[in-house]
Amino acid sequence: MSTDLFSLAGKNVLITGAGGVIGGELTRGMTAAGAIVGAQDLTIERAQAADGAFAFGGDLSDVEACRALVAEADAAMGGIDVLVNCAGINRRKPIDDVTAEDFDAIVSVNMRAVFFTSQAVHPIMTARGGGTIVNISSMSARFGYNTISVYAATKAAVTSMTRSFAREWVKDGIRVNCIEPSVVKTEFTKPLWGEPHRERWFADNMPMGRLMDPPELVGAVIFLASGASSYITGQSITIDGGLLAGADWDGYADS
Ligand SMILES: NC(=O)c1ccc[n+]([C@@H]2O[C@H](COP(=O)([O-])OP(=O)(O)OC[C@H]3O[C@@H](n4cnc5c(N)ncnc54)[C@H](O)[C@@H]3O)[C@@H](O)[C@H]2O)c1
Repeated sequence: MSTDLFSLAGKNVLITGAGGVIGGELTRGMTAAGAIVGAQDLTIERAQAADGAFAFGGDLSDVEACRALVAEADAAMGGIDVLVNCAGINRRKPIDDVTAEDFDAIVSVNMRAVFFTSQAVHPIMTARGGGTIVNISSMSARFGYNTISVYAATKAAVTSMTRSFAREWVKDGIRVNCIEPSVVKTEFTKPLWGEPHRERWFADNMPMGRLMDPPELVGAVIFLASGASSYITGQSITIDGGLLAGADWDGYADS
């Protein structure tokens, strides 16, 4: 099988939240796969730090900013073939402490921006004969978690939107998939692994015995963005070091 299958040569890729850890890895990885990457983040300076071919700034919690981003990227890059919805926020709080402002802030970035940025690229991709959208969901879409109830609900919504968008736009040659990473070792998740006893918990409970390094999710996104996944749409790939494969129910790992 040719590795060209995974090539993004000549593809214009727009990545939101590219100034963050995962968005930065995706910008570098997709560029290495041949893509021309437009990196977007809250400010142009944050976006420029990702070192893509183009940089765009804007607050995607505002629906008009989602539309303006897509129009600006389309004009600057000469079209959009791949959209990666990666911008996201979290506010860790027990349910009792979540305010309406917290709720709206998380929903507006993690869910609403994914919807309206994707909506805005639809006519562009359709006019080009198709395209691919890769949403960065989370394994929290699948379970209940302490202190991230709103975040987890928005990620479940992202996985759900992935399926609906895939169904509705298959007629236009647009494939829509998502990845659901477990805990990536970033500032975002430092409350989970920042202390030795917490890191040890992951070592003892993750089948692979460690947390994920950010570069380890790049390959799945390149796969879903490229022709290598040409018959795949509406799917989520969990990147979890074997967690969903099952717990060590029988203690076999210790035998
Ligand atoms: N870190 C993890 O363990 C993990 C696991 C699963 C999923 N994810 C998801 O991966 C994505 C990236 O996470 P990360 O760990 O790189 O976090 P990060 O905080 O490093 O990156 C997120 C980026 O989004 C940008 N952003 C936030 N609000 C924005 C807005 N209103 N408009 C435009 N950009 C905005 C931030 O400036 C930041 O650069 C998020 O969607 C997150 O939910 C992360």
